Amino acid sequence: MDLMEYQAKELFAKHNVATTLGTVVTTAEEAKAAAEQIGGVTVIKAQVKAGGRGKAGGVKIAKTADEAFEHASNILGMEIKGLTVNRVLVTPATPPVEEYYFSFLLDRANRSYLCIASVEGGVEIEEVAKTNPEAVRQIPVDAGTGVDEAKAREIVADAKFPAELAEQAVEMIQSLWKVFVEEDATLVEVNPLARLEGDKLEALDGKVSLDENADFRHPEHEAFVDNDATDALEVKAKSKGLNYVKLDGQVGIIGNGAGLVMSTLDVVAYAGEAHGGVKPANFLDIGGGASAQVMADGLDVILHDEQVKSVFVNVFGGITSCDAVANGIKGALEILGDEAKKPLVVRLDGNKVEEGRAILNELNHPLVTLVDTMDGAADKAAELANA
Ligand SMILES: Nc1ncnc2c1ncn2[C@@H]1O[C@H](COP(=O)(O)OP(=O)(O)OP(=O)(O)O)[C@@H](O)[C@H]1O
Ligand SMILES: [Mg+2]
Repeated sequence: MDLMEYQAKELFAKHNVATTLGTVVTTAEEAKAAAEQIGGVTVIKAQVKAGGRGKAGGVKIAKTADEAFEHASNILGMEIKGLTVNRVLVTPATPPVEEYYFSFLLDRANRSYLCIASVEGGVEIEEVAKTNPEAVRQIPVDAGTGVDEAKAREIVADAKFPAELAEQAVEMIQSLWKVFVEEDATLVEVNPLARLEGDKLEALDGKVSLDENADFRHPEHEAFVDNDATDALEVKAKSKGLNYVKLDGQVGIIGNGAGLVMSTLDVVAYAGEAHGGVKPANFLDIGGGASAQVMADGLDVILHDEQVKSVFVNVFGGITSCDAVANGIKGALEILGDEAKKPLVVRLDGNKVEEGRAILNELNHPLVTLVDTMDGAADKAAELANA
């Protein structure tokens, strides 16, 4: 999960990385009030999970509270790299004397961690790497030993941070390493790491990506999830414990087992070519227990996707047998009642397939079509989606 600047800075503050938190607001009025409260010159910064905010006009200096209001009203609602700005950070202006770049990241190719540091920060580091590669230092960090004081000194020397800032930099680099390890991050980036008046080092910007595989260790990270920016159906599916990913297509997909669902997507995409180019609308793996409730939850999410025109339920009975799945579908249609309006194509195979098919044949529901083969069912679902 990528964090926004203000969230990254909260983690910086937690681990004693010098930074200024500022105030996050969602309206221009609140931005004005925050600027009044802070007093003096402020900076209004778009909070979106994209780089290049400054270039896009999403970072503005405000000399007065009225200017803060102006800038915030321009920035709120702005699109940066396809993302709408719903929040701005109002923070005291602390003009940098110099701007440096610093990051820790997971170096997958080398199965290691990497520190990237440069005294030519502030701007896009990718540009500096092209024009002046020597200035962008890449220092491998051993996963076993990490970053202790000696390693921090090695980084400071390699990147040629100014001598008068060395002690502060050594401290800060160790604190940033703590953010990286203790928060289970895959990226911790500070650009600019600024030298302020009076030779004070401060993180003026922050980017952190958290490793979702470690979420179970961090219930507190849940607070960083931005539900506004996530697809509403994905939020709903997650709240019901479903493994759902929205895609851009017309045939809703429900299957059991990630492998089967993946191949169902392929088969539907292929079958769709003969039916006006319809495509799968989602990935949804209901896993082992296809109870009526799980089936109803899955159908509920998929049927509320306005793009969906038909649904393909593709189940291979194993531990969960086909009769249980058929009863699940039957129960789901009862639970959903009038909310179920789109045709369902069901393909059952495997354990207790005859019993499962018999249950659905007996149900004789007007929306349900049983098809015996996966290719045949994909073709039927695509045809119905294109009707
Ligand atoms: N609090 C501040 N006071 C003064 N100047 C600031 C402050 N915050 C940022 N700046 C200036 O604005 C520039 C851009 O800010 P920042 O790095 O936060 O955004 P960005 O780099 O454009 O966005 P992104 O990191 O998304 O690419 C900084 O390099 C710095 O010169
Ligand atoms: Mg930046």
